[in-house]
Amino acid sequence: MDRPAFDDRVAGYAISQTHRDGPTLQPTVEFTTAHENNRVLDVSTGTGFTAHALLRTGAQVVATDISHGMLRHTLTSPSSGLTGALSDTHRLAFANNVFDAVSCRHAFHHYIDGPAAMHEMARVVRPGGRVVIADTIAPEDDTAARAMHEIEKIRDPSHVVNRPVADLLELFESAGLDPVQTKLAETELLFDPWCDRTDVDKKTRDGLWEKFTRDKATKLMFSVHESDQHRTFSWPNAIIAGVRAL
Ligand SMILES: C[S@@+](CC[C@H](N)C(=O)[O-])C[C@H]1O[C@@H](n2cnc3c(N)ncnc32)[C@H](O)[C@@H]1O
Repeated sequence: MDRPAFDDRVAGYAISQTHRDGPTLQPTVEFTTAHENNRVLDVSTGTGFTAHALLRTGAQVVATDISHGMLRHTLTSPSSGLTGALSDTHRLAFANNVFDAVSCRHAFHHYIDGPAAMHEMARVVRPGGRVVIADTIAPEDDTAARAMHEIEKIRDPSHVVNRPVADLLELFESAGLDPVQTKLAETELLFDPWCDRTDVDKKTRDGLWEKFTRDKATKLMFSVHESDQHRTFSWPNAIIAGVRAL
């Protein structure tokens, strides 16, 4: 994972409508079951949209990220009581069993070692506590999954992998987390702001749009549309909550 790349992306993520209030935000907060006096860790907090939504439950929220720029933005934006630390999710800087819940939204696909990151999140949550992952998922169809992966890698070389829901559920179980809630959601993305966030140049952008529109199956699978104003597509997402065994 290239940390400086994320340091340069703060402005783009800070204005991203998808991250600010996309369809995965409220389910992520609900699935943590966070409430007053809970201690919640929001890993890979980015520009802090999930951390701030969690704060509104009355919970004490700790935000972490591997990117200094992202964390600085999140901790200095107007908020009450958000604390945080620079921390790689593969090696969280916290003792065992110290949080009631851990959330990780739109970041799991960046982790080089997904199982290790999942074990870390499970380690810091108390027995009976929850780990909630919200992320893009790979479609069941192999051709569509390959197309999605190819597009993601071109648009963002730091992208590692989108997993099918079944693989994510297995990762929860391997880390000692019982998956108790799963919700699927389609996230509609504006193609150009999505490219802007990772600084995609015009030639690469044209090539990406060609990949989205090259055949009917891809267009249908990812709800690809073009109007006078916008080019849009949708990625499949899942929000999954797992409870750590007592
Ligand atoms: C799309 S942003 C996260 C969005 C945010 N969670 C939200 O809800 O708005 C992805 C974040 O993952 C962070 N990240 C990538 N790899 C990481 C790692 N190994 N450990 C911690 N954070 C990481 C990046 O720095 C970036 O801030």
